[in-house]
Amino acid sequence: MDRIAITGGARLQGEIPISGAKNSAIKLMAASLLTEEPLRLTNMPRLADTRFLGKLLQRLGTEVTESVGEDGPETLLRTREIVSAIAPYDLVRQMRASFNVLGPLVARTGQAKVSLPGGCSIGARPVDLHLKALEALGARIDLHEGYVYAQAPRGLQGAQIDFPIVSVGATEHAMLAAVLANGETTITNAACEPEMVDLADCLNAMGAKVGGAGTSTIRIQGVSRLHGATHAVMPDRIETGTYAVAAAMAGGEVRLTRTRSDFIQALIDKMTEAGVEVTPHNDGLTVRRNGSLLKAVEIETGVYPGFATDLQAQFMALMSLAEGESVIKETIFENRFMHVPELSRLGAQITVQGGEARVQGVPSLEGAQVMATDLRASVSLVIAGLAARGETMVNRVYHLDRGFERLEEKLGACGAQIRRIKGDGEDED
Ligand code: UD1
Repeated sequence: MDRIAITGGARLQGEIPISGAKNSAIKLMAASLLTEEPLRLTNMPRLADTRFLGKLLQRLGTEVTESVGEDGPETLLRTREIVSAIAPYDLVRQMRASFNVLGPLVARTGQAKVSLPGGCSIGARPVDLHLKALEALGARIDLHEGYVYAQAPRGLQGAQIDFPIVSVGATEHAMLAAVLANGETTITNAACEPEMVDLADCLNAMGAKVGGAGTSTIRIQGVSRLHGATHAVMPDRIETGTYAVAAAMAGGEVRLTRTRSDFIQALIDKMTEAGVEVTPHNDGLTVRRNGSLLKAVEIETGVYPGFATDLQAQFMALMSLAEGESVIKETIFENRFMHVPELSRLGAQITVQGGEARVQGVPSLEGAQVMATDLRASVSLVIAGLAARGETMVNRVYHLDRGFERLEEKLGACGAQIRRIKGDGEDED
């Protein structure tokens, strides 16, 4: 298995172009199941997760063609016909979001059999809300031997879906199914994340009638068919925030381009409070820290536009070098502090009680062997390694490859001393 070695201490200087958003791309890819015409997705990130989903879609009957267009990598998806409405365990377990093929499959063919998902080990992460939404739309749901069997032989029916808690995945899933339902669907207590807007924009370009995405009430007027479209994947706000924190942690000046600063306003506010200079511009933002001490600040994760849970681990790494004590509250997922013991190996002083971590800042961190446990936790270790004295070796980086495109290359271009060591022990560089 690959590892990443970082020699800390180098300041970062340069520009990092942000890729298309992983979390959006995988839902947009699933939308291609809804039409027999081609869906062309531009600004596509090339990641392990998009590859997994591509494989699953191919199994279902989608032709997946990757190419490089005028504006970078793109993927053409065409599902002339669903050849199988079965998503097997061996493919779904590799990535939780592949569960989102269930709704489009039922919407298009009237039936589907999809394995219950695996995914990151950051808490229980049930799919009850996804299933309730599909049931509300008239699908009959049965669970047997780890599989969901869904049936709607006469098609899905528009419905009122009121989510008891805000769920990104369930809101997207409901949208993906309701666009082809008969009649109107209203989703209340919907997630407001920018990915909702991206998905709605893509579906609307395909002929769907989705209104209100990005607010807590989404209204969908079902249509009988969708057609092909071209859609540019939104910039990855988590990658943006991650490199913003990396620049703050290592020091220096980094310009993040091809992205949007407003997507990470909650993070920018906290970074500014901590003493980091952040300047938004048309094409992204610039992050600067030249020798100033970091100040400890408190954060609490929340649904958008709150502080993203996917940036919590990275911010904790930053706070490990701040002056004073920072309190970090995680409200979205239980068990999302798996990076704590690993950050502690680098010298961070962190105590966890329930959903709250207290980080007592230390003057410096020291490189060590650490282990990546989940996607966002892994990258927090890389960020910490950039600022630690000596060498940090991050083991089990397959988690990183799921969500960060060309991480070593992007950081290396800004002067970070970072290299990948292939599983067989040979350096890749
Ligand atoms: C998505 C993102 C993930 C991010 C998260 C929260 C993708 C691929 N992943 O995950 O990176 O951290 O949003 O911003 O887009 N829940 C239930 N029942 C359900 C579904 C969810 O109880 O059926 C709970 C979850 O356990 C969690 C909370 O709802 O506590 C929020 O989860 P959700 O918003 O659904 O996250 P994901 O869509 O899985």
